[in-house]
Amino acid sequence: MKVFITRSIPSIAYELLTKEGIEVTVYDSDKPIRKRDLIKLARDADGIISLLTDSVDSVVLNSLSSCKVIANYAVGYNNIDIENASARGIIVTNTPDILTDSTADLTFALMLAVARRVVEGDKYLRSGFFTGWKPELLLGIELKGKTLGIVGAGRIGRAVAERAVAFGINIIYCSTSRKPDFEKSTGAVKAGLSTLLKKSDIVSLHVPLNSKTNNLLDADKLSLLKPDSILVNTARGEIVDEKCLIGMLKKKRIFGAGFDVYVNEPKVNKQLLKLQNTVLLPHIGSGTTETRSAMAELAAKNVIQILMGKKPITPVNL
Ligand code: NAP
Ligand code: GLV
Ligand code: GLV
Repeated sequence: MKVFITRSIPSIAYELLTKEGIEVTVYDSDKPIRKRDLIKLARDADGIISLLTDSVDSVVLNSLSSCKVIANYAVGYNNIDIENASARGIIVTNTPDILTDSTADLTFALMLAVARRVVEGDKYLRSGFFTGWKPELLLGIELKGKTLGIVGAGRIGRAVAERAVAFGINIIYCSTSRKPDFEKSTGAVKAGLSTLLKKSDIVSLHVPLNSKTNNLLDADKLSLLKPDSILVNTARGEIVDEKCLIGMLKKKRIFGAGFDVYVNEPKVNKQLLKLQNTVLLPHIGSGTTETRSAMAELAAKNVIQILMGKKPITPVNL
């Protein structure tokens, strides 16, 4: 059995796979694998561990001769053509739950950083401008008593809301289904997306990227945001009309925004780089040592389960 890993990931994955007698090839580069190399190197693999930076489209899938499983090293799997994989009998798996807390923590870090102008403050001090305490220096937004709108109350959205409750923040949410337990534990109230955008002081995005959520926050929806509101996106860049949002940030039509994800990653719109009222992170939502190691373990175990003829742990297309 052969498994191809498209990038170096924590060694636990390699250890678990080789212990089962599986031959492992790792594409050892600091850059995402190019499509033509993926096609060349994964062609005869029985299993693949892919990253969210790899577009596993029909061209790639067509080239695979014996692949039974693609274990995506991420919870989001919008980089894989699931329908095509399913048609070929390839099981796709992801890494849910284990990255929920790390991603919710990072979402909260962005929210706090924007509300309290943490990055601006750091730059201000390093630039030598701090000449003493001032009554009106870098005033931010108080979080207590404000309303947080969670768009997509799934695993991460709910974990963000739980953290917000400890800050005295009120929660509204929109999701495809009602979440009675979540409402009970956090006092969250369900609303439609438009109502949520009109009522929230902070909006945080947690829906997966798919054909229904692509451009979910288009110009019309963004226009509903309150003045002085904050938008945080740790989901996927394409969920928001980024150009329109940049225009609003430029005009200070909202207070600020926190980004971990972008349209056309890793390219970042140059105008964003100039804005003071944004905090920009390089897609590190699940980036803790503990979580990345747990993701490697889960991805490897999913591959092993399938190659041993057993049920995958976290399939997305069974
Ligand atoms: P999840 O548990 O599947 O949650 C997604 C939620 O979105 C579900 O509650 C779902 O509602 C809701 N939803 C789906 N389509 C919707 C729509 N059209 N309108 C409103 N709600 C909708 O996923 P998760 O584990 O929380 O992860 C969410 C996403 O975060 C991932 O897909 C990934 O893109 C992103 N992510 C980013 C990072 C990072 O590094 N920045 C890390 C991890 C994840 P139902 O429950 O009713 O179906
Ligand atoms: C990261 O973006 C993930 O989907 O796990
Ligand atoms: C600030 O440092 C304060 O003591 O209020």
